[in-house]
Amino acid sequence: MYKSTIRPLLFLLEPERAHRLTFNLLKKSNRIPFLRRFLRSKYQYEEEKLICKGIVSKNRIGLSAGMDKGAEVFNELFDFGFGFIEVGTVTPHACAGNPVPRIFRLPRYNSLISRTGFNNPGVEVVKKRLRYRSGKVTIGVNINKDPKSEGQQVIEDFLHMYMELYTNADYFTINWGTLELPLMKEMLEALTRQRQSLVIKRPILLKLPADITHEGMDTVLEVIAQYGLDGVIATGPTNDRSQIRRYSEQELNAMGAGGVSGKGLGMKPLLAVDYLRRNGGKDLLIIGAGGVMTPGDACRMISMGADFVQIYSAFIYEGPGIVADMIQAVADMNEEPESPLQKFRMNSAK
Ligand SMILES: Cc1cc2nc3c(=O)[nH]c(=O)nc-3n(C[C@H](O)[C@H](O)[C@H](O)COP(=O)(O)O)c2cc1C
Repeated sequence: MYKSTIRPLLFLLEPERAHRLTFNLLKKSNRIPFLRRFLRSKYQYEEEKLICKGIVSKNRIGLSAGMDKGAEVFNELFDFGFGFIEVGTVTPHACAGNPVPRIFRLPRYNSLISRTGFNNPGVEVVKKRLRYRSGKVTIGVNINKDPKSEGQQVIEDFLHMYMELYTNADYFTINWGTLELPLMKEMLEALTRQRQSLVIKRPILLKLPADITHEGMDTVLEVIAQYGLDGVIATGPTNDRSQIRRYSEQELNAMGAGGVSGKGLGMKPLLAVDYLRRNGGKDLLIIGAGGVMTPGDACRMISMGADFVQIYSAFIYEGPGIVADMIQAVADMNEEPESPLQKFRMNSAK
């Protein structure tokens, strides 16, 4: 249904219009109890809570940052079966981001090119919206500084974000490479000191760019050990377009600058997860992300050592059903003859 009818219609629209239309429909679904019940019965099933390295989630598949930047529809997105939703990137003040067009679809190779910047409504708005989360929704918040902040203000920005949101967030993500290393360290030192002083301590993860080198990952692991951080998201988009097939150089150049998401990321995220697991030890929390397009890709991420998996492009290209398919595939890896998902499937099939 999604790929045969809904996707072709949505893809007639410019990506951000399609995004806005979908969000508006999701918000409306919230006001129609029958529709919400239908969505839940189609995509949700009862699962036992999974507690893994400080993250409580009902399964291992989450939604990456950037889809619900302003925390508008995380409750509705959760209806599609995600174990956790990462909202943001959120900054202290509202941000317009880069001029449009800034998102480009590459449907012949299930990829996206984007340079959105940090368009978001700012922390105050997001904080208010997160108060309305249903108790079951596991939320990560990807935080950043205001684009214009420099020096000491950068540290103030991150402390402010953490303090404003920690009661309504289950974990925080900070994008590695946002700050020069000395400032990143100074900020993390202040942030982890602040976190220590609080009764509720939320996990802090570093999200790595796909183009990070082994040397870069070694530095990340040192920083994680030094400041007692909890883990990584590996990885975000790549600047390397060499893995994109079925598009000419001219077509790609016409889209201008931007990071590549989806299938065009190639093997980089998987190799990063492998390296981080082998060198970071078994206690490191790893969320495998980037280029996870199929249930098989999700299983490969888990077998490389990821504790959880996040998707973005797969949701755009495959539709909501991909979430349950990935959960099923990962559950089957455990070789439990009757996992909660299998029971749900069997009951629905009756
Ligand atoms: C349109 C778009 C906007 C994004 N915005 C953000 C963002 O605000 N913060 C962030 O950390 N990642 C952002 N991302 C990156 C995604 O979170 C994800 O890391 C990336 O798309 C790779 O995953 P995928 O291959 O499953 O799409 C964005 C990606 C896209 C395509």
